[in-house]
Amino acid sequence: MKIAAIAAGVMVLGGIAQPAMADGKAVYTANCGACHNVMAPKLGDKKAWEPRLKQGEDALVASVLHGKGAMPAKGGKKALSDADVKAAVEYLMAQGK
Ligand code: HEC
Repeated sequence: MKIAAIAAGVMVLGGIAQPAMADGKAVYTANCGACHNVMAPKLGDKKAWEPRLKQGEDALVASVLHGKGAMPAKGGKKALSDADVKAAVEYLMAQGK
């Protein structure tokens, strides 16, 4: 009985640990899509992303971490980890290629 409960607990923890790993699409959808689905630079808009992609991933990640223009730092979601931001930027970059 006790062992079964522990095993169940471990399985639950395992289930939580997986999605906690940065999933760029999920991070983007929850934190960035409100802006980037509707305003420039829009998700998947190759023309809008072309000059930005040229800056390279590190520069783009830095823009999001510190904020740029009308975009607040981390898109206003201060709870996001740097890894979350990086994963979301990689997702945006992949869609804009
Ligand atoms: C409040 C609206 C808003 C939110 C939320 C937002 N962005 Fe932005 N984002 C912008 C705007 C506006 C720009 C254009 C900034 C500029 O070039 O002046 C931008 C630019 C960018 C750029 C290009 C930066 C560069 O240096 O050219 C990237 C990459 C980016 N956003 C990623 C993200 C990611 C990832 C998230 C979620 C964590 C996010 N954004 C959330 C509005 C937003």
